Parts: sequence; C-alpha cells; structure tokens
Amino acid sequence: MHNYSLIIQIAYYAAAVLFIFGLKRMGSPKTAANGIYWAGLGVLVAIIATFLFPGIHNIALILVAIAISSIIAWWSGRVVALTAMPEMIAMFNGMGGGAAAAIAAVELLRLVGHPTLQMPISVEALGLGGALIGAISFTGSIFAFLKLRDWLDNIWFPMQQIVNLLFLFGSIALGIAFVITHSWVLFTLFFIASAIFGILMTIPIGGADMPVVISLYNAFTGLAVACEGFLLNNIALIIAGTIVGSAGTLLTLLMAKAMNRSVSNILFSKFGAAKGGTKVEGEMKALDIDDAAINLNYVSSVVFVPGYGMAVAQAQQKVWELAQLLISRGVDVKFAIHPVAGRMPGHMNVLLAEAGVPYDYIYDMDDINPDFDSTDVAIILGANDVVNPSARTDKNSPIYGMPIINADHARQIYCIKRGKGLGYSGVVNTLFFDEKTKMVYGDAKSVMNRMIQVLKENE
Ligand code: TAP
Repeated sequence: MHNYSLIIQIAYYAAAVLFIFGLKRMGSPKTAANGIYWAGLGVLVAIIATFLFPGIHNIALILVAIAISSIIAWWSGRVVALTAMPEMIAMFNGMGGGAAAAIAAVELLRLVGHPTLQMPISVEALGLGGALIGAISFTGSIFAFLKLRDWLDNIWFPMQQIVNLLFLFGSIALGIAFVITHSWVLFTLFFIASAIFGILMTIPIGGADMPVVISLYNAFTGLAVACEGFLLNNIALIIAGTIVGSAGTLLTLLMAKAMNRSVSNILFSKFGAAKGGTKVEGEMKALDIDDAAINLNYVSSVVFVPGYGMAVAQAQQKVWELAQLLISRGVDVKFAIHPVAGRMPGHMNVLLAEAGVPYDYIYDMDDINPDFDSTDVAIILGANDVVNPSARTDKNSPIYGMPIINADHARQIYCIKRGKGLGYSGVVNTLFFDEKTKMVYGDAKSVMNRMIQVLKENE
C-alpha cells in the first residue's frame, strides 16, 4: 500500500513535469505538435497512476467510460474542421468543468447526514468554489457552443446585469449556507443557481467573441479542477488545474489585448450590437482575377495577409502554391499574421503550417508592419477587420484602438473576398475604398487557383 502511494506520487510528479515540458514546446509553432504528445503522455501517466489508488472500485465502468470518451475525442479530433475547432474546444472544456463540479458534488454530499464526518473548512470552501466555477464553466461552455454553431442568438433583457449578479451572489450565499447546515436541498439549489449563472453570463455575448469567452471558461475549468485537487488531496489535479487555469487566463488576456479590449468589455459590452464605424466616401474598385495575376508578373515584393476567409475557403495550400510560384520568379514573398486573424489563437499559423509554409516566411504583425512601406503588393486573403485602417482613427468604431496590419502602406493592395461581406466586428473597412486598393472578388481558394493558372500560362 505504502509503496503504491510512493509510486503514485512519483508518477504524478512525472506527469506534472511532462505537462510543463509539453506546454513549453507548444510555445513555438515548430515544436507545438510535439509538445501536445508530451503533454498527452503526462495525462496517460497520471491516469494509469490513479488506478493504483487503494480502494478503487468499479474499474470496468471506468475503463468503459475511458474507452468511449477516447473514441469520441479521437473521432472528433479527426473529422472536425479547423474552423469548427473553437466549438469542439467549448464542448470538451464544458465537460471538464462539469466533471470538476461532479467530483465536488460526490465529495461534499458525503457530509450530508454525517455530522461526525469532518472536513477542514478551508478544503470544504475550496471544493464549493470549484463546484461553483465548474458548474459555470459547464453550462457557459455549452451555451458558447450553441452560439458558435449559430443555433442561438444574443439574448438581452432589461436589468440583465443585476439579474446576473443576483444569481452569482445567490449561489455564493447558498454555498455558505451549505457549509453551515450541510443540507442537500441547499446544495442542490447552489448547483442550480451556479449553472443558471453560467447560462446568463454567456447569452448576451456575441458569437464572434466566443473564442475569448471559451478561453476564459477554459481558465475557469482549470481553476475548478485545481480546487477539487485540494478536496481530493490529489497533487496531479492541483498541478494540472493550475497550469490550465493560468494558461487559459494568459491566453484570454492576450486575445483581449490583441483586440485592444478589456475582458470586462468583451463580457458586458454588447459588442456587435451597436453598429459604429466610419461613413465612407467613394467606391470599391474591382479588378479581374486574370488581370490581378498578370500584374504579379511585374512586382518584386508581395506580402500575403490571410484572415478568416482563408480558413473558410481552405485556401492555405493554394496560397502557398502561388507564393512558391512567385518565389521561383525572384519575388520577395512574406506572410503577415495578425494575432487575432481568424477565429482562434494561432489560427492562421496552424493553417499555413498545415500547408507546409516554412516558418521563415511567416511574420508577426509587429515585425512585418514596417516592411509595408516598401512592399509592392499586399494581398489580403479573406481578412477584413485586421487590416481596417479606421481602427486607428475612428473613435466610434468597435475596433477603435485595435492594432492592425499596415497593409494600407503597401504600393498596391489586392483584397480577395467573395463580395461586400463585413468582418466579424460588423464595421465597414475603409481600406476597401482606398485609391490603391483593388477588390478581387471570389472565393479565396478559387481565386488562388485561377491566379496560379494564369501565372503559369504567362511564364
Ligand atoms: P474578418 O474580419 O472576420 O473578415 C473575414 C472576411 O473574410 C469577411 O469580410 C468575408 O467577406 C471574407 N470571407 C469569408 N469567406 C470567404 C471565402 N470563402 N473566400 C474569401 N473571403 C471570404 O476576419 P479577420 O480579418 O481575420 O479578423 C478576425 C476577426 O475576428 C477580428 O475582428 C478579431 O478580433 C475577431 N476574433 C478573433 C479571434 C481570434 S483569437 N483569432 C477571436 C475572437 C474574435 P465576404 O463575405 O465578402 O467574402
């Protein structure tokens, strides 16, 4: 028994080291995929070690649950499109929050009707805190999933923030009352209030802000798991939960910073409801795809600026094919990545890596922005908000203050998009009306295909 306990502690320690090592490797696109394997190995070690706990029972049921969930996770990881990744993460994250809340329920309900059973008040409070956060993350993530799927519209009602606060403080009060009385009725009400608060907190937030919200719920789930680690006295849960909690918090703050918005603005501002934005004079000038391609024969530098539209069109392979063609003709080619281009952190980096674009061609916004002054053509591929110059000047715009890619500084700008569709923020893009800008209309992948064809024909 004693030996097992030592083995469990050593295995948990090893798992924690693997988590941290894996996370470190996830910090760079070159090593990120490998980092996931290391962290996954850490999870495997922790799961196997957990079977060594004394008195563990229902092993067959546990194994069946692990098998079913592994198949679902493996299957969804393979079939879910990259554009739907935030939805999948929302669901998985919700399950994590729900699991943390369920652990708390099982452990804390043991106190009901057993006055002799003692638990330090601090541990009980941590367990309840974890249950509260886990339940919020559970229902919040499910509703975030529904919004990302466009199955649910934003819901606003009068005195919404006050009602939300009532539910939040109500559930905290019910939790405190449970600590005093150990009544299962109060515990059930506490759970219901927390779960409803998760829903209320999510329903007014715009679908497009969901990736940030999911990252926040991810941090919540980590925190909830860490709290339950204290409840169960389980070091692996404490470490893993703390890592997820802090990584999720950092990611949330970084995403908010890249959009120049505060987390509270994202949670409470009705973003997308108010149609701000510059009134624009002039018109958009269309350019035929073939003409745009032929013009590329006479340029010496091109910067591609991919955005959400590239992800929708799955044009990453084709854009790299076009880029290679230009490189082979001596054109200086670069890719400019805005930190919040697309719909999830690193969205464009992942797509370009999948297409095999070498990292030396990919530049972060701050590194590439000074280069646009000497760039012949900026090719905006399905990007919109991240190149909207009104973010610099229009104080009424919802994206005011968001740092943008300086594509407007290039000598010519080709904007490839299907039509006059707005970006995620819903505001008009003044870049499309710029004298130097030509709109090349079409699906990003089809346009890339045609451009490649025309360039090859004109060798
Ligand atoms: P958006 O501003 O969303 O614009 C995407 C553009 O792509 C649209 O204007 C659309 O115009 C075009 N498009 C859609 N499908 C296309 C297709 N098949 N082919 C060609 N074009 C297509 O994209 P962005 O510039 O990448 O900006 C991202 C936005 O999302 C930012 O506002 C950011 O704050 C927000 N956001 C990002 C994240 C993260 S972490 N990345 C998280 C939350 C929110 P048409 O309909 O005319 O084609």
